[in-house]
Amino acid sequence: MRPEPDCSLCRLCQGRTQVVYPSGNPLSKVVLVGEAPGKNEDEQGVPFVGRSGSILDSMLGEVGLDRRDLLITNTVKCRPPDNRDPLPDEVGACSRFLEEDLANAELVVGLGRYAVAALSGHKGKMDEVVNRPMDVDVGGRKVRFIATYHPASTIYNRKFREELRRTVAMVAEEMGCGSKV
Ligand code: URA
Repeated sequence: MRPEPDCSLCRLCQGRTQVVYPSGNPLSKVVLVGEAPGKNEDEQGVPFVGRSGSILDSMLGEVGLDRRDLLITNTVKCRPPDNRDPLPDEVGACSRFLEEDLANAELVVGLGRYAVAALSGHKGKMDEVVNRPMDVDVGGRKVRFIATYHPASTIYNRKFREELRRTVAMVAEEMGCGSKV
């Protein structure tokens, strides 16, 4: 089940240009989950195509992965106004679609604290959970989950950048790519 192009389950429909559907391989056992589409994603209808997407693409490339190998999605499928954080009721309204995105997942990666909170329930400090694999419940199924920093937060923070690289290395290992990090 995907949101209809004219989905109006929450108020985000009012400001979006279009629904941003997941991209990549829908059968991938690894799913990367971001927070919400930004301006570029809203314009192009594809997740992670702006600055955050370039960071992600280049880190994936470093370990021999391409974004088309994985499934990339967001907790909410429509851009929040002025790029504000998605609100809990918006995340809740969209959770049925996220659950569907994760139907084939064996490893889920939460990019940023909103994705981490939505998927694991962890609302505390990120450094308590980053790169510490845990199990989460996805529609009654136990799935391995890795919390990590949002690509945007790594632009000016070297530690976050290195942690995100470590996450990507774990993804590569899961996908049998052998990490070069
Ligand atoms: N940030 C996100 O969390 N998701 C996107 O798709 C783009 C930027």
